[in-house]
Amino acid sequence: MLTIDLSGSVALVTGGSRGIGAGIVEAFARAGATVVLTHTGNPRYADRLGAMLGELRDKGCHVEAAVADACSPDAADRLVRQIVDSHGRLDVMVANVGQNLARPAEETTAESWRHFIDVNLSSAFHAVRAALPAMLGAGRGRILFIGSSVVFDGGGGAIDYAAAKAGMVGMMRYLTRNYARRGINSNVIHPAVIETDLLDERYGNPQDKQKLVDRVPVGRLGQPADIGNLAAYLASSHGDFICGQEILVDGGRTFY
Ligand SMILES: NC(=O)c1ccc[n+]([C@@H]2O[C@H](COP(=O)([O-])OP(=O)(O)OC[C@H]3O[C@@H](n4cnc5c(N)ncnc54)[C@H](OP(=O)(O)O)[C@@H]3O)[C@@H](O)[C@H]2O)c1
Repeated sequence: MLTIDLSGSVALVTGGSRGIGAGIVEAFARAGATVVLTHTGNPRYADRLGAMLGELRDKGCHVEAAVADACSPDAADRLVRQIVDSHGRLDVMVANVGQNLARPAEETTAESWRHFIDVNLSSAFHAVRAALPAMLGAGRGRILFIGSSVVFDGGGGAIDYAAAKAGMVGMMRYLTRNYARRGINSNVIHPAVIETDLLDERYGNPQDKQKLVDRVPVGRLGQPADIGNLAAYLASSHGDFICGQEILVDGGRTFY
C-alpha cells in the first residue's frame, strides 16, 4: 500500500482555517505532521475552526491555530520563531492566504491594488522569508505556493489578483534556481473552481454554480481535499524529485 507519511514533520499553512487551507491542514495532519495554521481571528468563522480543530485532535492529530495577519512581516517572523522554539523545526510552508474581488481594471484604485498585492503576493514573501532560515539550517524544506488558474487564462476577474498570482510563480522559480541545491523544493499548485467561501462569494446562486460545473470536464467542482492530498504528496518524500513545477488542479477546466 502506498502511503503518505509526514510523521515527524512540522508544517505551517497560512490561511488554514477554512477552504483550501483547511483541506491542506487536514491532509497534512492525517499524514502525521504537526500543523500550525494561521487565520485572521474573524469571529464569524470561530465555530467552524473550533469544530475542525476538535475533530482532528479527536483523531490524534497535532494541529495548532494562530492568529497572524499574513500581511505583517513581523507576525510571520514571530510565528516561525515560536514554531521553531516549540517544535524544533519547520519542514513545510504553504503560502495559501488569498483574497479576490472581481472588478474592472479601470475601477481598481491604487489603494485597492496595493491591498490585493499585499494579501496575495507580499504575504507569501513574508512567509517564505521567515521560513527560509530554519529550512536552510536543516538542509531540507518544502515551499508550496497556492496560485490560481488565472495565471494561465486571465480569469478571476481582477487585475491585481492576476498579477499577484503570476508573481508567485516568479518567486517559486527564483527559489528553485537559488535554493533547490540547498535542499529546498518549491512548487506552485494552481487551483480552480474549488468549493470554498471564496468561490461562493462570486458564484453564490445555484444557477451560476451549475454553469461553472458545466464547464468542468470531470463534471464536478473541486473540493479542498483535492488540493490537500496533492500538497501532502508534494510535502512528503514522494515529492523529493518534484521541484520548480506549476500544477493545475482544476478538473481539466482551464485548457479544455
Ligand atoms: N477556491 C478556489 O476555487 C480558488 C481558485 C484559485 C485559487 N484559489 C486560491 O486558494 C487560496 C485559498 O482560497 P480559498 O478559496 O480557500 O479562500 P477562503 O475560503 O476565502 O479562505 C481564505 C483563508 O485565508 C485566510 N486569510 C485571508 N486573509 C488573511 C490575512 N490577511 N491573514 C491571515 N489569514 C488570512 C482566511 O482566514 P479567516 O478564516 O480568518 O478569514 C481563510 O483561512 C487563495 O490563495 C486563493 O486565491 C482558490
